[in-house]
Amino acid sequence: MANIGTRLLEMSFGRPSGPLGRIGGRLMARGNAATERHLVEIADLGRQDAVLILGPGPGVGLEAAGARSGHVIGIDPSELMLESCRRRSAELIGSGTVRLARGVAADTGQPAGSVDVVLAVNNVQIWPDWRAAFGELHRVLRPGGRVLVSAHEKWLPGGLAALAAAVERAGFEEIRTWTWEPPGRSATTAAQLRARRAVTAETTS
Ligand SMILES: C[S@@+](CC[C@H](N)C(=O)[O-])C[C@H]1O[C@@H](n2cnc3c(N)ncnc32)[C@H](O)[C@@H]1O
Repeated sequence: MANIGTRLLEMSFGRPSGPLGRIGGRLMARGNAATERHLVEIADLGRQDAVLILGPGPGVGLEAAGARSGHVIGIDPSELMLESCRRRSAELIGSGTVRLARGVAADTGQPAGSVDVVLAVNNVQIWPDWRAAFGELHRVLRPGGRVLVSAHEKWLPGGLAALAAAVERAGFEEIRTWTWEPPGRSATTAAQLRARRAVTAETTS
C-alpha cells in the first residue's frame, strides 16, 4: 500500500486531483513552462504535423504546440489537468486545432500510424510500464515519425541510458540523448531524448 507521502505526491503531480492537484497544476504551469516550450521549439513542428502530447498537465506545451501545428491531441489520465488544458487552450479547442482525451501513454486510443510527432514532458518517469508505453507510441507513429521526451534528470529512474534502451527495444532508431538547463535558479536539469520510428516496417519486441 502506498505511503502517505507517495499518495500526496500522486495527488499533487503524478495524477493531479482535488485541492492538492490544483496547487500542483499551478506550480507545474510556472516551474515547467520553459521546458514545455523548449521541447515544442526543438520538435520543429510543421502546420500539417499531427502532434500527440502525453501528460500535458496544465497545458503550457499543448498551447505552444497548438500555435505551430494544426492538429494537436493531448492525452492525460487526470480529469483535473484536462480541465486546466481546456481553459488554457479554449480558443484552439474551439477552432478544432487542439483535442483532448483521457488516457495514458500505454493506451492512447489513437489509430495506428496516425501521428507525426509525440511529445512528453515530465511524465515518462511515472509511466508504470515502459515496454507497453513505447510499444504504443511506436504503433501510433507513422513510419518516420518522431518522439521527443523530457524529464527531470534527478527523477528519471536509470537515467537516460535506461530510457534509450527502452526506446530502442520498442523498435525506434536514430536515438539521441542530451541534457538541457532550463533558465531560472530553481530549475533542475532536464534529461531529453529524441528518436524516430523506422521508415521500413518494424515489429516491436
Ligand atoms: C508531473 S505532471 C507534468 C505535467 C506537464 N507535462 C509539466 O511538465 O508541467 C505529470 C502529468 O502526466 C500525467 N500522467 C500520469 N500518468 C500518466 C501516464 N501513464 N501516461 C500519460 N500521462 C500520465 C499526469 O496526470 C500529469 O498531468
